[in-house]
Amino acid sequence: MHVLITGGAGFIGSHLAEYHLAQGDQVYVVDNLSTGSLANIELLRGNPAFRFAEADILNWGELGRAVAWADRIYHMAAVVGVKKVLEDPVAVMATNMTGTEKILRAIHGGGWNPQVIIASTSEVYGFNAKDSFAETDDIVLPSGGRLRWTYAVTKLADEFLAFSYARKYGLHIAVVRLFNTIGPNQVGHYGMVVPRFVRQAVCNKPLTVYGTGEQTRSFCDVRDTVVALDGLAGCPQAWGEVVNVGNEQEISIRDLAELIVRRSGSSSALRFVSYRDAYGEEFEDVSHRRPVLDKLRALTGFAPEWTLAETLDDLIERERGKNRRVA
Ligand SMILES: NC(=O)c1ccc[n+]([C@@H]2O[C@H](COP(=O)([O-])OP(=O)(O)OC[C@H]3O[C@@H](n4cnc5c(N)ncnc54)[C@H](O)[C@@H]3O)[C@@H](O)[C@H]2O)c1
Repeated sequence: MHVLITGGAGFIGSHLAEYHLAQGDQVYVVDNLSTGSLANIELLRGNPAFRFAEADILNWGELGRAVAWADRIYHMAAVVGVKKVLEDPVAVMATNMTGTEKILRAIHGGGWNPQVIIASTSEVYGFNAKDSFAETDDIVLPSGGRLRWTYAVTKLADEFLAFSYARKYGLHIAVVRLFNTIGPNQVGHYGMVVPRFVRQAVCNKPLTVYGTGEQTRSFCDVRDTVVALDGLAGCPQAWGEVVNVGNEQEISIRDLAELIVRRSGSSSALRFVSYRDAYGEEFEDVSHRRPVLDKLRALTGFAPEWTLAETLDDLIERERGKNRRVA
């Protein structure tokens, strides 16, 4: 199979690339390296079945040819992370909406019907006060132009772009609402909590918990995520549909911090920081983010293999390895 991955030098994209190469597929990655990195794909670049283009999807001259080559497309390129979103909402709008439309236009224009995954996010559920979310639950977004929600709004627009192309032109597109995903290659500097906590714990520095720490999240190992995405892309019943992807196990951020301290044998304390101090006035957090995965299970038989403790142990070990190499 020929697999095109936009944002394939990023966290999830690089795992998709590795997964498909392991299956003997040809993989073509395009990435502008804004949050992704060559380090994420370093080990893949020696593989003759792997090709990389450093380019921006907004003006990539090869887009039409690459799309026509592909049997499968994962559109993962996006501006992500709370910090980036608050710093540069214009870039978020451009990449996340115009970028997606360009991909969909190219697919339609190619006259060929590859399997397509469009990455959306659990953030689209917005302020809905439920504690777990099914795909049919309402989306509740605040009015008044609060920039913190720019990312969610762009991803919601992507969903509707994808549905429009799928229904009008019969394209084979599944939209995935990814909940918090964790694993190797994820970086902490864009506001992602687990890599930040792991780094702080391994260095015996205080773990900075934003807000009260009572907010809960569900974390899915990226190596389970890629299996789910592969299953959905190849599942005709998923085309034209939106499907949650994540893990149902839930943990408060305070408990997560304590767990990471315990599992790493760290002497770190927890330091509580207000959202205002961490992100400025604009930021608002949501209390719970747990996916209902009935639809994903029904479509693909998905069952995650990694427990949170196993993923954390793996990440702690890798972080220690990095520190040993630096020392
Ligand atoms: N990681 C999560 O928990 C999570 C949760 C919900 C949704 N998602 C979605 O999954 C996708 C992948 O996220 P990730 O966590 O791997 O983030 P990431 O930042 O590691 O990956 C995004 C990649 O896209 C690239 N990129 C950004 N703008 C680009 C452009 N204009 N042209 C080409 N490449 C560009 C970046 O350099 C990066 O490599 C994103 O669409 C994101 O919205 C991720």
